[in-house]
Amino acid sequence: MKILAIESSCDETAAAVVEDGRKVLSSVIASQVSEHIVYGGVVPEIASRMHAQAISGVVSKAMSDAGVGYGDIDAVAVTYAPGLIGALLVGVNFAKGLAYSAGLPLVPVHHLRSHIAANYITHTDLEPPFLCLVVSGGHSHIVAVRDYTDFEIIGRTRDDAAGECMDKAARAMGLPYPGGVNLDRISAEGDPSLYKLPHPRVDGSEYDFSFSGLKTAVVNIIHNSKQKGIEVSVPDLGAACIETVTDCLVNNTVKAAESYGFDKIVMAGGVSANSRLRKRMSDVCASKGWQLYMPHLSLCGDNAAMVGAQAYYEFKEGEIAGSDLNAFATMPIDG
Ligand code: KG4
Ligand code: ZN
Repeated sequence: MKILAIESSCDETAAAVVEDGRKVLSSVIASQVSEHIVYGGVVPEIASRMHAQAISGVVSKAMSDAGVGYGDIDAVAVTYAPGLIGALLVGVNFAKGLAYSAGLPLVPVHHLRSHIAANYITHTDLEPPFLCLVVSGGHSHIVAVRDYTDFEIIGRTRDDAAGECMDKAARAMGLPYPGGVNLDRISAEGDPSLYKLPHPRVDGSEYDFSFSGLKTAVVNIIHNSKQKGIEVSVPDLGAACIETVTDCLVNNTVKAAESYGFDKIVMAGGVSANSRLRKRMSDVCASKGWQLYMPHLSLCGDNAAMVGAQAYYEFKEGEIAGSDLNAFATMPIDG
């Protein structure tokens, strides 16, 4: 079964053709980074306009790269939640028009479910059940993936997401957008022990995260140092920030895996590209004899191949939308 998938939830316009949820026939991504960089972050109105400009060409290229016509496609899939509402609506409306004109079923896909499905492409043998740490710019979840379309949230952030925390810390350190990836790069040679940062914990909820205090601590160190005329070492402070976020993510995931009896761990989302997180999670899983699955680096960030992968399983469960499909800025993964 071949699915044409469309993704436009944030600042990448993407389309892909994926066969049977696992084989990527084409994957096209038009990034808007160069447009948003001057603002230090994604400007939603600009993102929507750029999706509208790019989407037709991106979809045509995905079809021609895959060497297919609409007669070869079995369904159209689209990310419909969560994300920037104006950005999502561009993809949803384009997909609706396409599905209607080609007479194809329309499959709505939850963005975080698709991040998890990126692993089905990288690891063609991976099957649920497993425990997944989903860490992106907007979400930080520990999710029990019981089946391809059956999810239970075990832990979540109470405030900022891990990616958001790193993006804001990077910005305070004067690093350009996108912050997380630049922080990762510049911190590679840093010493994480030179700055002391709080390890936020959520009382009474051992799997939940809280990152806003950490972000504030980083900003305070920068301000206090400036006032005293002391230069901040960005590699060292960046390394301390990444190490602290990683401590929280890894510790809570391990606790959840032990309590819920999982020995198969999966990572997903943009932050799963972080080199320190990948190393720490690999080490801990190896020491416990657990299997660890991480998406290929090219599939950690937003793309449409992962949407096509998840759509295959949603379609098999009968998830088909009508022409009244709407987009939603928020929606729980287990909804
Ligand atoms: O999943 P994603 O591409 O978009 C959302 O659904 O939010 O995640 C984007 C987030 C951003 O916060 C970005 O800074 C972060 O992932 N990110 C990283 C790295 N690459 C991307 N954070 C830390 N280290 C990285 N290497
Ligand atoms: Zn994403």
